[in-house]
Amino acid sequence: MRLLFLGDVVGQGGCEFLMKKLPDYKRKNNIDVCIANGENSAQGNGVTPKSCEMVFSSGVDFITLGNHTYKRPEIMEYLDKNVPVIRPYNFPKGAPGRGVGIIDKGRFRVAVINMQGTVYSDPLGNPFWEIDKALEETDGCKTIIVDFHAEATAEKRAMGFYLDGKVTAVVGTHTHVQTADEQILPNGTAYITDLGMCGPVQSVLGIEPELTIRKFKSNLPVRFENAKGEYSLDGCLIDIDEKTGKANSIERVNIR
Ligand code: FE2
Repeated sequence: MRLLFLGDVVGQGGCEFLMKKLPDYKRKNNIDVCIANGENSAQGNGVTPKSCEMVFSSGVDFITLGNHTYKRPEIMEYLDKNVPVIRPYNFPKGAPGRGVGIIDKGRFRVAVINMQGTVYSDPLGNPFWEIDKALEETDGCKTIIVDFHAEATAEKRAMGFYLDGKVTAVVGTHTHVQTADEQILPNGTAYITDLGMCGPVQSVLGIEPELTIRKFKSNLPVRFENAKGEYSLDGCLIDIDEKTGKANSIERVNIR
């Protein structure tokens, strides 16, 4: 099975670029299943039902989220519907949505877990304890993919090694900058610290550089706008033996 996991889709521009490029890429590269992080897919940040529908219409099968999950009120009800969108598992009890989902393609099933880091981030449940509980909810799936939405490299790499041999892949999201440490860990789990983003290349995490510089220099609130220019779809292509759930290979992808 060939699984494509794309990093944070940024704004309307990211959604539109996804719709333009993904169908062709999937066809040419025999992609069986595609997952994307969509926590910033709405214009202005956060995620809405409309931005999810745009991501799905490009050919993405499943969406994971992160710390911006509840920025937009209209998403709350949507997450409690039977939609292929999950939010971090370690949010407090009663938070709308769920943290584990199953992609059922008939000839194979993929369990997806979304977890958020707590280093330089929100004080959520300890991800290293919560992940043990999440694994019990994967309904016997051999293929298990974890999106660890986190800031700190050490926390992300530690999670990779903690899950090595227990899951198919651990991919990081949130920093929007792709790392060059994609690898198969010693016990067969595919790993990358950050997938990068589906957004504008000449930007600060998708935002117009001038605006972020102004914010850093003034310490005043600045209304952010997405940068223009060339876009990239960043992510990883993971080749999986669906019988064992082991990853054969992981390869970085940048679709320009
Ligand atoms: Fe994030």
